Amino acid sequence: MTRILVLNGPNLGRLGTREPEIYGSETLADIEASLSASLPSGVELDFRQTDDEATLIGWLHEAADAVSPVILNPAAFTHYSYAVRDACQMVTGAGAVLIEVHLSNPHARETFRHTSVITGAATGVIAGLGAQSYHLALSHILTLLERH
Ligand code: DQA
Repeated sequence: MTRILVLNGPNLGRLGTREPEIYGSETLADIEASLSASLPSGVELDFRQTDDEATLIGWLHEAADAVSPVILNPAAFTHYSYAVRDACQMVTGAGAVLIEVHLSNPHARETFRHTSVITGAATGVIAGLGAQSYHLALSHILTLLERH
């Protein structure tokens, strides 16, 4: 069984009611359900959310140790957390894929969102496509798993 970690940072547990004009009306549970609906056998999703930096870092260590693929929406940590970035580097350094995803397009928003300290440690980034950002990241990881 291959486990794909889908990790969500601060305030993403409020999706549905949080700035729906930017993030849409889907909740995180809706996104989890739609991602889980299209899984092939032998693959499981481990979908988590935290508002806590240390918890997120612990989950990334777990992914590095298990060499698990990760879909990560670092939320506001994207823009300033070198600690989350270093943990992402451990995941990709261990040989696992880590796709940074964003619902919105941070580059089309406030200036402080234009910088991601995470991207340099990620395998790739998908942003601005709403929940589709997660779906495309999952589809990429499933393609890689098929090739192995
Ligand atoms: C976000 C974009 C970030 O700038 C913001 O802090 C978030 C969500 C997104 O998914 O669009 O919390 O990561």
